[in-house]
This record gives sequence, structure tokens and C-alpha cells, in this order.
Amino acid sequence: MRIGILTAGGDCPGLNAVIRGFAKYVYNQIPDAEIIGVSDGYRGLINGEFKNLKESDFSGILNIGGTILGTSRQPFKEMTKEEQNGSTRLEQMVKNYKKAKLDLVVTLGGAGTHKTAALLSEAGCNVIGLPKTIDNDIWGTDITFGFHSAVDIDTECIDRLHTTAASHGRTMVVEIMGNKVGWLTLYSGIAGGADIILIPEIPFDPDEVCKTVAKRYKSGKDFTIIAIAEGAMTKAEAEMKKADRLAARGNDTTATNSIARYIQEQVGVETRTVVIGHLQRGGSPSPYDRLISTELGSFAGKLVQEGNFGTTVAVQNNAITYNWLSDVAGKTKYVSEDNQMVNVARSIGISFGDGRKFKGIK
Ligand code: F6P
Repeated sequence: MRIGILTAGGDCPGLNAVIRGFAKYVYNQIPDAEIIGVSDGYRGLINGEFKNLKESDFSGILNIGGTILGTSRQPFKEMTKEEQNGSTRLEQMVKNYKKAKLDLVVTLGGAGTHKTAALLSEAGCNVIGLPKTIDNDIWGTDITFGFHSAVDIDTECIDRLHTTAASHGRTMVVEIMGNKVGWLTLYSGIAGGADIILIPEIPFDPDEVCKTVAKRYKSGKDFTIIAIAEGAMTKAEAEMKKADRLAARGNDTTATNSIARYIQEQVGVETRTVVIGHLQRGGSPSPYDRLISTELGSFAGKLVQEGNFGTTVAVQNNAITYNWLSDVAGKTKYVSEDNQMVNVARSIGISFGDGRKFKGIK
């Protein structure tokens, strides 16, 4: 059996741990199987860039960040557009899949990767997906690998900001990744003891944010920590089209600088901003992510053994299972207003800048 494997989209800690878990399952449980690495995500499948891998290629990578295969972003909407050579990228991928005599391809990636994986599956390729992203926004799985490593990194950053904010009596606005969803900001905001959490799913009122900051200062708490997702927006911005929103922001691509400036002007307290950025995607996976990655990789091996294709591995209620790629493709798992963690945050007095009050925990 010739098994292709690729990592696509944004990288994250845990990719190599999944690759290792999968490969070790295959070498231990599926005799005579060969693993062929596809370079740099779907780009390698489009261009036919393959590498025959051997067992030793998977040693010593459990704790190594990034991906030994390389990755790239290949927008889903480009997959079915006719290129100069008269074929689409999808057709090129199917052709190379067959030319390399692959029996299946395992795709590690986020929401976009899953959409293309479903296309490949519909085009007749055997595909098994694995849910990767620090955003944890893949529908159908409680957790994606990479998420908790990023929560650990962000929590450590927020812990550090507490001491400098307290020393200076400042408001610190820390921007966390998540351009569409707020899971990472929500979890690390709570874990890091943020006072205000601003996420894309709950548009905020800048005056409400200022009120919360002013109230803290009046009660003698002379610093405030605000965790803001890069995709967070004001209520007014939420009514705008994305292009109009970005145009109105001028040089600011996110709401971080403007809310910091507004607080400084309206409340009269010193504010500073921090953008954690790609530090959240780098470095070694946390022990939790190594565990879940090994579990997910091993389960993908089981699906290969069973010939259960057109699937993607998932974690549901602490059990490892799978969804159909066709069910997952194109869906995003957003933070809902009645999410338990949102309620827990509100119950302990964390503000989401929306003026809504705590409504009890289910
Ligand atoms: O999808 C994961 C993610 O880290 C997002 O949180 C972030 O907005 C985006 O990727 C950054 O993309 P890039 O690495 O291409 O700059």
C-alpha cells in the first residue's frame, strides 16, 4: 500500500507529532506499507513533488515544531480554476496522485485544507483528513492539535503582561491569533486572567470597554489586561462589509490599536499594545498536544487499515472518532454566545465589551 501524506495551511506545534504517530502505527501494524511525503502541502501534489520516506525519517520529531514535510497555503477557490496549461489544480492533483500510484493521501490541515480534501475525495481519490489549527475552528471536533500549545504560549504571555501592567498601572491590550473565531482568545484570556476578552463572534462597544476599565481603576485596580482576537470588531464595524471595515481602519488591520488609543483618550490611562503573532505557531508542542497528536495519528492509521476513506479524524467528548469529509468541508466552529466558557467568564466578572450580563451557568 502506497500512502501519501501532506501538511497544508498554517503550521503549528503538533504536526510532526501527528506524522510520527501515524507513521509508527503504519510501520508497526500495516506490513509492506510505504509512506510517501508530499512536499509543502497541496503545492507538492499540484506539482508532483514526492519523497519516499523511511522509518528513520520519523524518529526524533515528536517534540519538534513545524512540519518535516513543509507546508503552503493553496486557496480553495483556486482549485477548480482553469490554469494556463488548460487543466485545473484539482485535475493536476488527481493526475499526480494516480501517476505516483498512491492508494490514498492523508491530509493534515485546517478548514481550508479539509475543503480541498473533500474535493479530492469526490474526484475519486482515497483521502483521510486530520484536524490541525491553533484556531480550533474545525467543525465536528472538540479540539484540533496545535490549539493547546498556542493556549499555553498565549497564557504565558498574558502572565508576563500582568507584572509589567501592574508595575506601571497600565492597560495592556494583547492581540491573539484568530481572524474568524475567538476560541484561542477566549481560552487563553480566561487562563491568563484577562479582565476583558474581545472576540469576533461578540462585537464590542468601545464605550462599554472604557466603562469597564474606568470602573476597575475607580475600585483601586490600577491595571487592566484586555485579550483581543485579531478578528475582533466593534458593533459598528460588524454592520460593515469586510472591505469597508478594513478601509475605515486605515493602517490598522485589526481593532487592537484603535481600542487602545480610545481607552487612553477616554479613560486617561496609559495603554500599550502587544501582538503575539506567529510566536503562537512556533516551537515545541505541549505535552497535551503530543498526546492528542499521537492519538489522532494512530487513529488515522486504523482508518487506513479499515479502508475507511473520505473521513477525517475527530475528538468528541474525549473519544477519538471520525467525521465524513463531506460533512466537515466548508463549516466553521464558532464560539456561540451561550458557550459554557463564555458563561463561566461572564460569571467571574470578565467583560466581553458588549454590556450583556451573566445569565447563569447551565
Ligand atoms: O489559521 C491559523 C492562523 O494562525 C490564524 O490564526 C492567523 O490569522 C493566520 O493563520 C495567519 O496566517 P499566515 O501564517 O499565513 O500569516
